[in-house]
Amino acid sequence: MSELVLVLDFGGQYKELIAGAVRGLSVYSEIRAGSMAADDVKRLNPIGVILTGGPDSVTLPDSPKCDPGLFALGIPVLGICYGMQLMCHMLGGEVSSGGAGEYGRVTVTPADSAQKPFLALMSHSDAVTRLPEGFKATARTASCIAACEDAGRRLCGVQFHPETKHTEGGREILRRFLYELCGASGGYRPEKTAAALIENIRYTVGEQRVLLALSGGVDSSVCAALLSKAVPGRLTCIFVDHGLMRLGEGDEIERVFSSLDLRFIRVNAQERFLARLRGAADPERKRKLIGEEFIRVFEKEAAKLGDIPFLAQGTIYPDIVESGGEYGATIKSHHNVGGLPETLAFTGVIEPLAGLFKDEVRVLGKKLGLPEALVKRQPFPGPGLAIRVMGEVTEEKLEALRAADAIVREELDGARRRPAQYFAVLTDTRSVGVKGDGRTYDYVAAVRAVTTDDFMTCGYAPLPHTVLRRVSSRMTSEIPSISRVVYDVTSKPPGTIEWE
Ligand code: XMP
Repeated sequence: MSELVLVLDFGGQYKELIAGAVRGLSVYSEIRAGSMAADDVKRLNPIGVILTGGPDSVTLPDSPKCDPGLFALGIPVLGICYGMQLMCHMLGGEVSSGGAGEYGRVTVTPADSAQKPFLALMSHSDAVTRLPEGFKATARTASCIAACEDAGRRLCGVQFHPETKHTEGGREILRRFLYELCGASGGYRPEKTAAALIENIRYTVGEQRVLLALSGGVDSSVCAALLSKAVPGRLTCIFVDHGLMRLGEGDEIERVFSSLDLRFIRVNAQERFLARLRGAADPERKRKLIGEEFIRVFEKEAAKLGDIPFLAQGTIYPDIVESGGEYGATIKSHHNVGGLPETLAFTGVIEPLAGLFKDEVRVLGKKLGLPEALVKRQPFPGPGLAIRVMGEVTEEKLEALRAADAIVREELDGARRRPAQYFAVLTDTRSVGVKGDGRTYDYVAAVRAVTTDDFMTCGYAPLPHTVLRRVSSRMTSEIPSISRVVYDVTSKPPGTIEWE
């Protein structure tokens, strides 16, 4: 990669947002440990460094610090929140604890009166109270220095979070840092990485064969498409159909992947999974049983294929970052499909997407020709509909849920303001109803639709009543075992997105 921006991590929850925003501005970025030695930074030759936020106080002796030599490398540095406090503290300024702090959107007023005040997301209790020599305040709030810079040394800091969409003009602030201070020329595009990724796979795999567990999710699907281009005819994909997919999904996966240059094996294991789930009502137990059964089925099928030296996994960059690893470094024992390689003797595990964020994987998938519906697929839990059927899973309940879920999707797929995720849940509760002239005693279905960017928090989506009415009316008339429909109006926290 010719142009690199390093994001040095001090434990901030937004590190991936920062790195993702930089890439979104066409500059390649990677996240590394905040303590990275200045010599190591220099060796990587980044055009700029960003110090992330973090939960600590720089005033405490054992809070995380960066190498002081970092500021003498002549490389532009942007400190965000804790990163700004750290930079000021280490260069001789003063940071104070004990103030009231600022949380939420706060008005920031630039020192240059030609610029308008704007709202920025703040989340800090410490604040910079004296700037290091050579620095000047470029913006303030009512209670703190909101931004500062030493133009000569190309060092700057913001107390707020320009990486979140809650900061007005945040993207423009990052753009100016990259293109004006760091002199970036841009040009990074995830779809352009396809050729290099394909080349890399060819180099690693040589003339050998590769095995992939294909779930039909975005990551494993893009991984399969990439591998089929890199080593045509030498990729085998095993798709374990556990019978817990949505209506028509298994057939759709088979249709898409059977047309690629790979060997596609669909294992129809519905009955095995249902038998294994019999009597299991506890969500954690259901998840565990499905995970174990998946490994068993996969191993059995893989064993039939004879020796395949490489196992491919759809691991993506956030998986690596969240497990404390580094992309490009020797990847630690980190596996997407928990425990898979243990009893299978693979010479190597390849993870071609390990440097990409989810949205980049989607862009790559599109470039590789995968259908839009597949690359834009909403998150779908590994245990599938088994954790959307409350309590024990039976074929009868699954059938009702598949039909209910299809109705929710049909009614919302084309909506103008589509929620981030929407689906149906089949509760374990029955209620009395009346259909025709008869009394019924059937299942209560729930509709869940949420708005979220990160899936770590969410609000319930305020669906129009006309849509809810249509969904409810269709479910109760088209599905014999559903007599009542409720709408889930819980946010996360305290709820979760899934019900189990
Ligand atoms: P929760 O229910 O924890 O879900 O609020 C957050 C997001 O994660 C998805 N989810 C899963 N995804 N395997 C997955 O790949 C799982 O076991 C799993 N459980 C939940 C969920 O759909 C939501 O988008």
